[in-house]
Amino acid sequence: MDSHIQSRLSLYARSFENAPSLDELIKIHTEVFGKKGYFAKLFQTLAKESDIDKKKTMGVYLNTEKQKLEQIFGAKQDLFLQQKESIVGDVTVPGNGPSLGKMHIVTSAIEEIRRIYSRIGFYQYSYPEVEWEYFSFEALNMPSDHPARDDFETFFVDGPVSKKYGKMVLTPHTSNGQVREMLRVGKPPIRMINIARCYRPNWDVTHVPMMHQFEGLCIDRGISIQHLKGTMSYFAREFFGYDVKTRLRPHNFEFTEPSFEVDISCIHCNGTGTTDKGKCRICKSGWLELGGSGLVHPNVLKAGGIDSAEYSGWAFGFGIERVAMIKYQIDDIRKLYSGELRYVLEG
Ligand code: PHE
Repeated sequence: MDSHIQSRLSLYARSFENAPSLDELIKIHTEVFGKKGYFAKLFQTLAKESDIDKKKTMGVYLNTEKQKLEQIFGAKQDLFLQQKESIVGDVTVPGNGPSLGKMHIVTSAIEEIRRIYSRIGFYQYSYPEVEWEYFSFEALNMPSDHPARDDFETFFVDGPVSKKYGKMVLTPHTSNGQVREMLRVGKPPIRMINIARCYRPNWDVTHVPMMHQFEGLCIDRGISIQHLKGTMSYFAREFFGYDVKTRLRPHNFEFTEPSFEVDISCIHCNGTGTTDKGKCRICKSGWLELGGSGLVHPNVLKAGGIDSAEYSGWAFGFGIERVAMIKYQIDDIRKLYSGELRYVLEG
């Protein structure tokens, strides 16, 4: 077959496939199939062919090629028409509004926690996240060789070293605010809630190196575990729902004595530990751990300049990501910082 014709035809096939618009496609179509188009010319020449056999094979060849090209054209035309339809669409359907942004789950949890505590007279105060070792450890009854400090695996900061306060750290918890608040206020009563970022070098489903905690500190005359328990129950009911129960479980922290872990009855299985599918996957036991608490250790009161013979108090520290994950059923803390839009978009 005439190689010139062959290459011309394949050129047209490519032009149909690559046509940038419907108008362009139709223009090429006229050039190929129009009255004065390429095929019209080919068939005119063929009509003049005197060799009957040659005429026949050429005729069959041209017709099949013509059909092939029409198919390629048709497919491309359908594509453009479909696109046009979807652009025009049904004009009576309500449009898609732009997605509205909302506060990140952690930010809105911070707001909610602040409001819940302000209703019972707790004011919010923030303390440094780049902190002296002293306020994060020594003042909390944990001298530098104390093994409990290993639990926090602290980030140290290259910075000034103080004779009195030691090195600088990224504070591993909000408890650094305890003694700072006692020194700031001078004399109880203290009802403070410290909400801040904390840092520990961990990265797994329940830990990220930067997280938030909220720390309550209540110091006055005659403060006891009853007030702690009451405040914990109040918070749990307000934040998670009214039927949530709270329990204090004995534990150990250097800066509180006695110390407790605060648990709430699991909000997914109603504290039963089982669901209709068997063992509750979230809690396994009916209880979920919120964080640590206890009566402020006399040594800590002393570091804050408060006489433990006259005053007593309690403190607690919970992870904000943790309580938000329980409430919104998020299974991996890292998702909160992955940039996933569903945590910041409405709907
Ligand atoms: N600071 C402790 C922690 O980060 C929690 C805590 C705060 C415990 C206050 C007792 C009192 O795990």
